[in-house]
Amino acid sequence: MNQNKNRSVFVCQTCAYSSFRWLGRCPECGGWNTFTEETDMPGRPSAKKRSSMTAPVAIGQVNAKAEERVSTSIQEFDRVLGGGLVPGSAILIGGAPGIGKSTLLLQAGGGLANQGKKVLYISGEESLQQIKLRADRIGIDSETFYLASETDVEQVIHLLENERPDLAIIDSIQTVFFDGLESIPGNISQVRFCGHRLITTAKQCNVPIFLVGHVTKEGSLAGPRVLEHLVDCLLLLEGDGLHPYRVLRTAKNRFGSTNEVGLFEMTGQGIEQVENPSAYLISQKRNMASGTVVTVTIEGSRPLLIEVQALVTQSNYGLPQRTANGYDHRRLTMLLAVLEKKIGMRFGNQDVFVNIAGGIRLQEPSADLAVIAALVSSLREGMIPNNLAVVGEVGLTGEVRGITYVQKRISEAARLGFQRLFLPKTSVNELKHPESITLIPVQTVEQLIEEIFK
Ligand code: TYD
Ligand code: MG
Repeated sequence: MNQNKNRSVFVCQTCAYSSFRWLGRCPECGGWNTFTEETDMPGRPSAKKRSSMTAPVAIGQVNAKAEERVSTSIQEFDRVLGGGLVPGSAILIGGAPGIGKSTLLLQAGGGLANQGKKVLYISGEESLQQIKLRADRIGIDSETFYLASETDVEQVIHLLENERPDLAIIDSIQTVFFDGLESIPGNISQVRFCGHRLITTAKQCNVPIFLVGHVTKEGSLAGPRVLEHLVDCLLLLEGDGLHPYRVLRTAKNRFGSTNEVGLFEMTGQGIEQVENPSAYLISQKRNMASGTVVTVTIEGSRPLLIEVQALVTQSNYGLPQRTANGYDHRRLTMLLAVLEKKIGMRFGNQDVFVNIAGGIRLQEPSADLAVIAALVSSLREGMIPNNLAVVGEVGLTGEVRGITYVQKRISEAARLGFQRLFLPKTSVNELKHPESITLIPVQTVEQLIEEIFK
């Protein structure tokens, strides 16, 4: 049956679910209008003949020295990688277009090249001239930094095998294609196939490889996510485009913790690491104003001071608005319900806006108490002194729940000159703390409001 050979299938571009019919909605991931027609994959062109048989090795005989790591010269980047680059590892770095992936990798490559390592930057997105212009701007000028503009996966593999660089950067996986596949570059079959080929080649040549992957507008690392299980490390570069602030997170790391985050700032001379993020985030001279308070969050394993802002105003239309920027929308609704039920405050005819300054997204619940404080402050037009910080999770009954990394948070608040810290009562037992800061333990939301606004 020859006609079966190149039959076309419809593949969901988000999750790679395939179907012989076109579907409006993907039964797997629920995405609408995500199916694209693709031709079934032909046989793998370079499937190796089985020349020798594999024999198992006793675990005691496996030679496993701790991986030597190579520094990228960007400490924040090294930190996220778990202490530097592991030879032979494959790293996928995802992020929205324009967020700074190419810039970051160009700089990391430059850092390696400056140590005399051979770096190969293969771009399918920009011409050599464009990359050169950018490299000049960032100040990369090294004899061992090589550029190539290539999109054919076979050519890229050829380059990797012949050049054997100390680091290869492929920018981006969506531009690389295999011409044995009929689908266009960037389609999920192309991404999966080329990604697989590149990663296998890199492993065989023991070349660490960075693959850049663009995320979709919705913010999920669609497409490239099919490579997630193949790579050793999945990094996500985030930021909102309105702020120069960028956060590099690890979503997966075979050689380190997934807890670390790197903090960067986009400048005219490339992307720079932020040395003292707390000071950076609250450095703008803070005036005493209602509806704003500082909290201490934990990014990775580091404490970070962040300003929480709330605005509560009379709503003029039927349905009051609830808007949260950088904070979970449902948590905001929950906190408003707690304030209504436990304290008797009315938000039913009020529009409520919450904003986390600096474009940071708060992902842990310890900011709840600060959000409450900011909301109450705005509703009552009451100022919160600017030498005061608030941390704590809030439960449904209005109780203030314990938090992690208490010691670190206290020290960070003290370091930046805060004089009073409100925190959960359960978290203060036997803590040593710098004398410059007074700890004020609270058990309930009610108590917090009383203490701050007395
Ligand atoms: P880029 O690294 O090309 O993003 P990505 O590869 O993720 O698509 O970054 C593009 C943006 O960064 C662009 O809007 C210009 C800005 N930029 C700077 O602000 N400073 C710089 O030094 C460079 C090179 C770019
Ligand atoms: Mg780019």
